[in-house]
Parts: sequence; C-alpha cells; structure tokens
Amino acid sequence: MKPAMIEVRPYRPRFAAQVFGLPPGARLSPEEANALRQAWLDYGVVIVRGLHYGDDDLVAVSRVFGEPELAPASERQARGGGLRPDVWVVSNVIENGRPIGSLGYGEAEWHSDMSYLAEPPTASLLYALEVPLEGGDTWFADMAAAHEALAPDLKAAIAGTRINHPSSLTSTGDLRHGANRPADVRSAPGTLHPAVKVHAETGRAVLFLGRRRWARIEGLGDAGSEDLLDRLWAQATSPDFVHIHRWQVGDLVIWDNRRVLHRRDAFDPTARRVMHRTQVRGSTAAHG
Ligand code: OGA
Ligand code: MN
Repeated sequence: MKPAMIEVRPYRPRFAAQVFGLPPGARLSPEEANALRQAWLDYGVVIVRGLHYGDDDLVAVSRVFGEPELAPASERQARGGGLRPDVWVVSNVIENGRPIGSLGYGEAEWHSDMSYLAEPPTASLLYALEVPLEGGDTWFADMAAAHEALAPDLKAAIAGTRINHPSSLTSTGDLRHGANRPADVRSAPGTLHPAVKVHAETGRAVLFLGRRRWARIEGLGDAGSEDLLDRLWAQATSPDFVHIHRWQVGDLVIWDNRRVLHRRDAFDPTARRVMHRTQVRGSTAAHG
C-alpha cells in the first residue's frame, strides 16, 4: 500500500495543529497512529476534520494515546454512569424532558479535565456530532508557553508549591453528582498537585492550574493564595497562549490534558450542540 501522506500544519510555531491526510474512519495504520500521537506531543492540541465517527471509532482512536478512562461525574450521573462508561456526552439537548448530556449551553470556565484526580487523564478527545451555527467555540491555552513566559517573581513564588484542584463543581458551575457545595476554600475537596510539573514525555515545564474556582495554594493564607492564583491565571489565559477552535460537524480535537487548559463560549440555547468525549487514563509516571 502507498504510504500515508500525513501533513501536520501548526497554527502557532509550537502550539495547536491541524492534521491532514487521515482516513475518515478510525482504522489507522501504525504510521498514521504514530504521526497523530507525535503531533499531539509536539503541539498540545490536534484537530482532525471531516471524520465520520461512531463511539466505537472514538474509543478506538483514543487507544492511540493509552487506555480509556471512565467519564467524569456530571450534574446528573456518577462517574462512568452514561450510556457507555468511557464516553461522556457534552450537550445542551433535552429529550423527553431529560438532558442527554452535560455542560448545557452556558460558558464553561477554564479548566483541565478531571485534574481533581490524583492521576488525571493524559488526553481528552472531543468529537462534534452537532454544532450551532455560531457560539460554543472551545478555547485552548498552552501552559508550557505560559510557564516559559512567567515573570521571575511569579516563578519564584510558586516554586515547590502545590495547588488544591477542587472536585465539587463542573466547569459550568454545577454541582457534580454526589458532591456537596464547598463550605469554604480551605475545606473544598480535591487533590493537591505541584503548581509546576515536568511533562513526562516532552520534558517541558508546565503550569498546572486545574480550575480557578475553589482552588487554593497550599501553605499560604487565604488572601495570599487568592492573590497569587489571580496573577497566575491572568498570565495563563493571556491571548498570547490561546488558540480558539470553531467547530464543524466531524471535527475531532485531541488535547494534551497535562499541558493545556480549555474553556467554552456560551451559545444559543435553542441551537443543538452534541459532542462525545473520551479521556485517556493517566498515571503518576505519565503525568510528571
Ligand atoms: C470537555 C469540555 C467543552 C466544549 O469536553 O472536557 O470541556 O467545548 N468541553 O464542549
Ligand atoms: Mn473539559
């Protein structure tokens, strides 16, 4: 067979790339799988367009990056409690009076996926089945670049610190199934992670922030923690480090959840947006 003609075209020199030349189904040759995985490591966000995936295809291509992980707990269902335990439906659509998925139509705040776990997913894959004509764009921010550009005083302030990554709320501010609304920032449940991690596969330092609401920097007073977090988040989400994806049906976006934060714009509640997401299991070794 003719070797695959895969082309990787970056949006920025080192961040976000579109991959061309993959087949519309999920059966990838070893060369295609390697190229996709390498683009993901090199650019943090990879976009493939014009695909025709069912859930089996989405899970199959997720395996290029590792083992499937259970979907997160959402507003209504426990972790792994969807139609398939490994596929998370992100949607505002309501059928027979019941939402078919999570996150609704409002803005989703900046976050990395499931970073409240001790071993957060290494990759997230989001596939578009139905999209609104406008709105609902997904923004990605490069935490390797953000760390590189940190002012020396900020770098010094976070050296050796850990941040609590809170688990109670989804990125749209809804309470997760089985969770309680935190009483205060000190008691908010979550997991401590180093503020700066070394990416296990690229060796680059990354700022690892998780999500802003209910976060706390260990060992600082409340005011000190809030102030430092605000300064870090202002840096992290500066337009200098952001790529915005405007969706088409058949788009697959794969991000390195160790390196990238993401958020979503709100959209017209009467429009339909249906996305299926998978996540790839992390480990302490893989996460740095
Ligand atoms: C996700 C997520 C945002 C979006 O799937 O993890 O945050 O744009 N989705 O649907
Ligand atoms: Mn997310």
